[in-house]
Amino acid sequence: MKGLKIAVIGGGSSYTPELIDGFIKRANELPVNEIYLVDIMDGKHKLEIVGELAKRMIKKSGLSTKIISTLDRRTAIKGADFVMTQFRVGGLKARARDERIPLRYNVLGQETTGPGGFAKAMRTIPVIMDICKDIEELSPSAWLINFTNPAGMITETILKHTNVKTIGLCNVPIGMVKMVANILDVDSAKVKIDFVGLNHLVWGSKVYVNGENVINRVIDKLCDGASLTMKNIPDLKWDKDFLKSLKMIPCPYHRYYYMTDDLVAEEIESSNSEKGTRAEQVQKIEKSLFEIYKNPDLDIKPPQLEKRGGAYYSDAAVSLISAIYNDKREIHTVNVRNNGTIPSLPHDVAVEVNCVVDSTGPKPITVGYLPAKIKGLIQSVKAYEELAVQAGITGNYGTALQALTVHPLVPSVKIAKQLLDDIIRENREYLPQFK
Ligand code: G6P
Repeated sequence: MKGLKIAVIGGGSSYTPELIDGFIKRANELPVNEIYLVDIMDGKHKLEIVGELAKRMIKKSGLSTKIISTLDRRTAIKGADFVMTQFRVGGLKARARDERIPLRYNVLGQETTGPGGFAKAMRTIPVIMDICKDIEELSPSAWLINFTNPAGMITETILKHTNVKTIGLCNVPIGMVKMVANILDVDSAKVKIDFVGLNHLVWGSKVYVNGENVINRVIDKLCDGASLTMKNIPDLKWDKDFLKSLKMIPCPYHRYYYMTDDLVAEEIESSNSEKGTRAEQVQKIEKSLFEIYKNPDLDIKPPQLEKRGGAYYSDAAVSLISAIYNDKREIHTVNVRNNGTIPSLPHDVAVEVNCVVDSTGPKPITVGYLPAKIKGLIQSVKAYEELAVQAGITGNYGTALQALTVHPLVPSVKIAKQLLDDIIRENREYLPQFK
């Protein structure tokens, strides 16, 4: 078996030990020669700490994989088989701003959903385009596995504007499979969910256990108070009549659309208290994580990492890479070009659906026309995403204004404009496209 070269952009992330753990666990099926952890000057200190921990983890596992921490992105990308992107332009400071700006106008302030996600996309699109230019030149046959948020829009940018082979990945679908398994008290390997939607806006339309569709059982459990959320999203309970008539499992992020008023109130309260916004909470968690990572005796993924929202991140990423490398024809829920999979959406946009994955990449499984109860929301969020991607590429103010105005969580043109002006002003250094 040929050993692989992996490049991780945003390698200094506190999530990297999760990824290394995934590669160690699957070493028998996925031989990795080198993992390049790449970061920028601002992240050098974190990169050094994470790189050293990664080396200790590999040493303990007895593997011979080389870990190379570097600021030289081009060397890392050159000849890589897989490039993984998990970076955050502007860091958690910018995320905190993304969360706080919308709250000024009583609009949801969230990392990926709503205007916060829009701001993050505007900062990220120029950088992902640069990375893709490097991949096109230095490793044109590499797969780019994109985790960078907002993952759906960033994947759509790559699909529409570059020649890079890409798959967008998120831990929400795999997290939902594990949570549903937990709710049903069965082994997660037995649970199969038909997913339909967009990144962070994905529904489980059917849940199978041993070939039987048990979605009603899951809905009943949710109505009885079973929990289905992630560490970063408050566990607000669903309205029973709503869930029963929806007949689908919403993802944790749907709360932002279906319970907007409660969540905005909760965010405002939290941001005005010592707790702060999620980014501010994560800043504290990160600080203590890096203190833990520094310990020269630590050589495993520390359990404290579980306080973050990215649970199962490595399972999703490493098993996907293995499905490609080992030509497995396995089903993974990923972000890919629609191409008629959901005929209610344009062909060239990114959708999050089940795909058969083998060495030729992901082949989406047809979903068909969307039922009216979810169609309107998906179509309007997708229209926002299309406009946002276009704005991120061109820096056109009007397109950006249209994007925010179309977003279902933005109440008016007036507020869309105030949001946009604040976002551009407060992110100036990261938005070269908006002159
Ligand atoms: C979930 C989402 C990710 C997101 C993360 C945030 O895992 O799927 O897209 O980045 O939560 O977690 P955090 O701990 O940073 O709030």
